[in-house]
Amino acid sequence: MKYNRCGKSGLLLPQISLGLWHNFGSVDSFENGEDIVKAAFDEGITHFDLANNYGPVPGSAETNFGKILKNNFRGNLRDEIVITTKAGYTMWDGPYGDWGSRKYLLSSLDQSLKRMNLEYVDIFYSHRFDPETPLEETMMALDYAVRSGKALYAGISNYNTEQTKEATEILKRLGTPCLIHQVKYSMFVREPEAGLLDVLEEKGVGCIAFSPLAQGLLTDKYLKGIPENSRAFNPNGHLKTDEVSEERIQKIIQLNAIAQQRNQSLAQMALAWLLKDSRITSVLIGASSVGQLKNNIDSLQNLDFSTAELFEIENILR
Ligand SMILES: NC(=O)c1ccc[n+]([C@@H]2O[C@H](COP(=O)([O-])OP(=O)(O)OC[C@H]3O[C@@H](n4cnc5c(N)ncnc54)[C@H](OP(=O)(O)O)[C@@H]3O)[C@@H](O)[C@H]2O)c1
Repeated sequence: MKYNRCGKSGLLLPQISLGLWHNFGSVDSFENGEDIVKAAFDEGITHFDLANNYGPVPGSAETNFGKILKNNFRGNLRDEIVITTKAGYTMWDGPYGDWGSRKYLLSSLDQSLKRMNLEYVDIFYSHRFDPETPLEETMMALDYAVRSGKALYAGISNYNTEQTKEATEILKRLGTPCLIHQVKYSMFVREPEAGLLDVLEEKGVGCIAFSPLAQGLLTDKYLKGIPENSRAFNPNGHLKTDEVSEERIQKIIQLNAIAQQRNQSLAQMALAWLLKDSRITSVLIGASSVGQLKNNIDSLQNLDFSTAELFEIENILR
């Protein structure tokens, strides 16, 4: 594993990080999730990403991760890993369990720490911009989370370019620099290229790309339609069947052919394609098996693209 500096901070993150959005909830096999986390750590993945609402049921991924920590990461091993959580989407009933108020963010962080049985998380994120709450308030809540020792760093996620500029400036003024932005970015989702990545670089903020495989679309899984053991088939999955369109499948088939010429799987090529950009600190993958995880880590063996390959890929994606 190679570790990249997260923006202009002191923190190094592995080029591949593991997210627990799917496959770690109370509806999933605990043993399978535990095996994936253990295998990830053995391969040098030191960064595990959670959020208050990961499950289902919401919160259960954090509860399960707490058990995995207790079983496998006792004592000083906590110091060898980076654990993140977030608040911003609906978590509990009433007016205080959603969006970006200080009330919600700080009580949610306390709940997350209890579920994982941790004293602190390494990164606490505002999971989404709240148009109704003053941005100062949301950022002051992140600043407080860090000052109170419940988080070591602050991050934002799903903020657009303008919101990111403002948020990073407020955090800088408060004395808690924004460490990282978690953005949806893959061959199929290109919005961050329209200015956001430049702003992050200019502000010295790291960038971690989530759903880098477009939830599994950028793998060889859907070449022949929707298999039963897939996120698109799973009723708890967030990949909707209409996202596996005929047009998408045609693109996937063509991309897969280029990956084969490179002696890579399509998943490996999709991750390498993101990591070729020095502004990307880490790619934040999901995995439903240890096999997938290992396949994805092997992407690091070939991160170089020829100009002709990049041109061919652009032509397919256009
Ligand atoms: N900040 C945010 O708003 C936000 C939003 C979404 C996600 N995230 C973070 O990003 C993390 C990753 O998101 P994601 O799970 O959508 O990422 P992803 O890497 O794009 O998709 C992961 C899924 O793709 C399939 N897959 C992975 N490797 C494969 C391989 N080698 N061959 C075939 N299929 C493979 C598996 O699904 P199957 O079940 O089909 O096997 C796996 O669960 C989340 O866990 C979370 O931490 C953050």
